[in-house]
This record gives sequence, C-alpha cells and structure tokens, in this order.
Amino acid sequence: MNETQIPSRFLLKNTGENTNEDELARQKVFLERARLHAGELERLLGRTPTFCVVNFGCQANAKDSEKLAGVLRSAGFTGTESEGADFVIYNTCTVRDNADNHFFGRLGRASHFKKENPSMKIAVCGCMMQEQGNVDKIRKSYPYVDLIFGTHNLFRFPEYLCDVYEKDTGAFDIRGQKIIDIWDKTDRIVEDLPAERKYSFKAGVNIMFGCDNFCTYCIVPYVRGRERSRNASEILREVEALAADGVCEVMLLGQNVDSYGLDLIKKGEPSMSFPELLEAVAHVPGIERVRFMTPHPKDMSDDLIEVIRRNPNIARHIHLPLQSGSDRILKKMNRHYTKEQYIALAEKIRERIPDAAITTDIIAGFPGEEMCDVEDTLDVIRRVGFDNAYTFIYSIRRGTPAAKMEQIPEEQVKEGFDKILSAVQESARNRASILTGRTMRALVEEVNKQDPQYVSARLSNNIIVHIPGDESMIGKFYDVHLDTCKGFYFFGTVVR
Ligand code: 5AD
Ligand code: SF4
Repeated sequence: MNETQIPSRFLLKNTGENTNEDELARQKVFLERARLHAGELERLLGRTPTFCVVNFGCQANAKDSEKLAGVLRSAGFTGTESEGADFVIYNTCTVRDNADNHFFGRLGRASHFKKENPSMKIAVCGCMMQEQGNVDKIRKSYPYVDLIFGTHNLFRFPEYLCDVYEKDTGAFDIRGQKIIDIWDKTDRIVEDLPAERKYSFKAGVNIMFGCDNFCTYCIVPYVRGRERSRNASEILREVEALAADGVCEVMLLGQNVDSYGLDLIKKGEPSMSFPELLEAVAHVPGIERVRFMTPHPKDMSDDLIEVIRRNPNIARHIHLPLQSGSDRILKKMNRHYTKEQYIALAEKIRERIPDAAITTDIIAGFPGEEMCDVEDTLDVIRRVGFDNAYTFIYSIRRGTPAAKMEQIPEEQVKEGFDKILSAVQESARNRASILTGRTMRALVEEVNKQDPQYVSARLSNNIIVHIPGDESMIGKFYDVHLDTCKGFYFFGTVVR
C-alpha cells in the first residue's frame, strides 16, 4: 500500500469519549480513506471492485444492509448479486434457528469463491455475532473470514473496511488475522452515514433501535440492546429528504414503535409520542403512504388508532403480533395482555378503521403448550379474522428464559402448527375474497418475476395485486380493479 497516499492512522484514533458528531466526522475520514483502498484495488484488478451484501432477517436488518451497501458504494465499489464479489458481507439474523443454519451453509460455500478470487474479502455482522458461540465457531471453522462486528457498532463500518485492507500492511497494530469487534451495548445513534436504497420510491426509516420487552422466547433484546429512540426532528429531516428524492412511501421501523420517545422523556429530553410522530410523517409533502412496523398489543393506544383513522395516507394495515391466544401461554411468554384484551383491541380497530387489514405473528410449540392452548389460538384467529399471519415454530434461543422451560415433543408442535397454519390460511382467503370487484389504489413495486408481462403492486392493506404492465409503471400509484382473488393476492386491471 502506498503510505504517502494513505495518511497515518494515528490521526484517526478513537478518543473513546467522543460525541456522536465527532464519531460521524471520524467515520467520514475513514470513508475517504476507504476510497483510496478501493482505488488501489481497482488498479490491481484492472476493473471496478464489486461488493455484495447478503441480508438475512427482518426489516431492521434490511435497513442496516442498505447502510452497509451505501458505505461500500460511496467508497467506490459497485454492487452485484454474486457472492463471489470482491467484498462480501453477510448481515446475519438469529431470531430463529433456521436463519442461523442457513447462514452457516452460505458462509461455507464462500470459501470456494475466495479460492477463485484471492483478493476477495469476507465480512460477517448482525445479530448472530452478538453471541460469543457464533463468533468462536467462525474463528475456529471459517478461517477465511476477514472481519466480524456486531449490531451496536455498525456505524464504524467505514473504519473496519479500512482495517480489512490495512491489516496486512503493518499500518497499524491488530490482534491476529481477523478483525473482530463486538460491543455488548451502545447508547450511540450516529446519523448521516451514506445509505443505499433498494427501491427509489419507497424506504424504511428507523425511528428507534432495540427492545425492552423481554418476551421470554425472544433473543432480540439481547442482541439489539435497550430501546433507543432517534430524535423526531432527525426522523422528519430524513423523511423530507427522502420525499425530495422521489420517495412516496415510507415505513417507520422499530421493534416496539408504541414506546417511541419514552426513553428520551426518561432522560429529560422532550419527545413526540409515536402517534404524534406518525401524523407528522403523514403530513410531509410528497409522502403518499406511511407504514409502520411493529406495534405491541399491550401498548397500542386509542390515540394511535385515531391518528390512523383520520389520515387516509397512513396504510390500512396494522401488524399486531398475537404470538398465542392462550392466557396461560401469554403469561409464560411475558406478553402482558390476555386473549380477551387482544380480541377487544382488534374489534376496536375493526370498528374505527373498517378497511384496515389486521395481520399477526403466531408461535406454535412454545414450552408447555397443550392442545387446549392451541384451541384458544384458533379461537382468536376465527374471532379476529386475520387478513394474514406469519406462523412460526418455536425455536429455542440460548440465554432466553424460555430455553430453560420444559420443551414439548416435536409431533405435538407439528400438530399445533398445522392446525394454526390452516386456520390462518382460511381466514386470509376469506378476508381477501371480500375485496373482489373493488377498485383500490395500488403502488407498483416491481416487474413480476414469473411473468414479465405483469407488474406487482401493493394495496394500502398490504395485499399484492398483479396487473398487466411494464417497468415504466414502477413507483407510481394506479387505481386498480381487483378482478380475481387467488387466495392471498389478486389479478387486476388498471382503471386509471
Ligand atoms: N421462536 C419462534 N418464533 C420467534 N419469534 C421471535 N422469537 C422466536 C422464537 N424463539 C417470532 C415472533 C416475532 C417474530 C418477528 O418472530 O412471532 O413476532
Ligand atoms: Fe422480541 Fe417481544 Fe421485543 Fe418483539 S416485543 S422484539 S417479540 S422481545
């Protein structure tokens, strides 16, 4: 590496006590430095170096992946879907064990790519890396990984990117072959690093990070830390900038959006409540649709329902995770509501916002679940009439309270899961079929993958409708007649 070109790292030392603004300035210097490394690489390869971000998991992860891609593109790499890119980063998820297994399979295959492209660098980050066991496993069995970091220090990515290209040059002191930096917590929110958007017309916006709820099955509070809300003015500034850039739909993201701002108020800083923030975002000129994910049934206020009701550009879709319909199981899950309270809330939503879809998450096979508990869940499904639901098989997460509870036999889990799945499918089909023949506003998102003569559009209630069309319609709203219901989606035609 040319030392006259790339300045000494001594100037960039972390003071430990620096402010969020200082940290941003520091990372921007690293970003400049990363551009020099990308330039070196370009000379070496005789072409623009490529990157690939492989995302696992939820919308929070997808948003983080956009930040990783933004840094890499801004450094001078070009994006590709190929896991044989010059810089590949896996952003992991650990909410259920199938995500863990899937990731290790993919990481195993990465070694072949590295053999073919010796200048390739491999990085791993995200929720799985907050667990020591996973980091140890990579250390031991995946020697070709260059960089590992966690969820709390993602804003340091420009710095780590430089580390990866400098670790073999002796430019600074590191411990061993891999760069590993995992933090167990942070109260930092570093704004304004570059981020790339997957879609030009819609975007996710983080409003808060972490979760304080500690549902007994869930790993999220351990890997994403305590709740930290962004300042409302920063959020609104970001939404305004997105609108100016042509974005017409935003999704506000948080693990428990109803508790937005409470941590700030506790610290003595004034803050908007979530309903106030949602309404302010809905009023930003150019924003034609606002979504949010995820509220918690125990905290959902009348104010929030009222704000949705009176703002037609807030999506007619409320995702309200049920998890179980049994009071006994809800208690063991630490959910803080009962079956009847959940049903009363859903009925209130149906009464006040009749066109809103209610969707949910349900876990089958939680420790101690018996058929009578499954029956309670089925009863909620029938009485609420969910418009859709994600049904998960309970997955033991090490370190969570439920992992120490007595587990139930696999056949019993499967029996409950199958019953719940067929009940939610029936409910979703019934709810969707009612809409046949109506004309509704739909935002075209992409060309249909199976049939390029069609485009796929999303209704306010989150249902997908396929319509004849082409690429030029992407990012635009149309009034669409819902011709035929295919279970959970529609075929339709544009009216105007
Ligand atoms: N096992 C199965 N499902 C889980 N979820 C969270 N943790 C687990 C687990 N250990 C589900 C919940 C949550 C969704 C995002 O993932 O239903 O709402
Ligand atoms: Fe996990 Fe419960 Fe927090 Fe959702 S609310 S992220 S399920 S702990």
